[in-house]
Amino acid sequence: MQTFTSVIKMQEWCKEQKREGKTIGLVPTMGYLHQGHLALVREARRACDIVVVSIFVNPIQFGVGEDFEDYPRDLDKDSLLLEQGQVDAVFAPSIKEMYPLGYNSFVEVLGEISQKLCAQSRPIHFRGVTTVVSKLFHICLPDQAFFGQKDAQQVMIIEKMVRELNFPLSIVRVPIVREEDGLALSSRNVYLDAEQRKQALVLNRSLQAARELIQSGERNVAKVKSLLEQTIKTSPGAIIGYAEIYDASDLTEVEEIKGQVLIALAVKFGTTRLIDNLLVEV
Ligand code: PAF
Repeated sequence: MQTFTSVIKMQEWCKEQKREGKTIGLVPTMGYLHQGHLALVREARRACDIVVVSIFVNPIQFGVGEDFEDYPRDLDKDSLLLEQGQVDAVFAPSIKEMYPLGYNSFVEVLGEISQKLCAQSRPIHFRGVTTVVSKLFHICLPDQAFFGQKDAQQVMIIEKMVRELNFPLSIVRVPIVREEDGLALSSRNVYLDAEQRKQALVLNRSLQAARELIQSGERNVAKVKSLLEQTIKTSPGAIIGYAEIYDASDLTEVEEIKGQVLIALAVKFGTTRLIDNLLVEV
């Protein structure tokens, strides 16, 4: 496995792979890898000749007062895991390498999809994500790029960007990976103490309760949302950021559940904000 920190060297290496007729799968990450990331790597390994994983805690997707400085980092451990996952190359640039002095170019997907859910409390977040992901696509030249369904709004926005800006690649969504007790894997789970971790199980529990209500025939969104909120509130430390149900194709409002809907949650436990979601089809 090769590790690159230089944009030009990474890009040259990827060009060379393409000249040899190989397909490239890119897994963009911010590091501190867990089984969720490794599921993305396995999908990429299965689908492409070459697998590149980027590790970069992207400062421009964090707002003031968010956890950029504290975001967990462990490049040595990540490298070991990726080596075992038969990754061909790791791209781990510095901030200066990605955003040199005077850097001033951004990519932004406008519209409803970028204004709801996480955008409400993190207004600059998705602009930071689409900018860095565009740069990673130009540097690593992937044929396919792999993203987790856990960040449902992120992957929807990236799919829209790829479609509308004609990036010559396809986006592959990989299902959420959960612990045995249902907690969705996230690098931020390390912030939780034992009590908060126990309380955080309410995320999956409320999603499952909503799914069961829909499966039993309920189609009224307000009623399902009410059950979601009630269930989350059974956990004393949980502070709801949002508990929403939208059309899964474009995050538009729905009153009646039909087709595929996205049930999406953001809940704070102490200072840790966790997100989770579920796609339900009727
Ligand atoms: O999902 C993440 O880890 C990040 O938002 C991403 C896609 C790597 C961009 O920094």
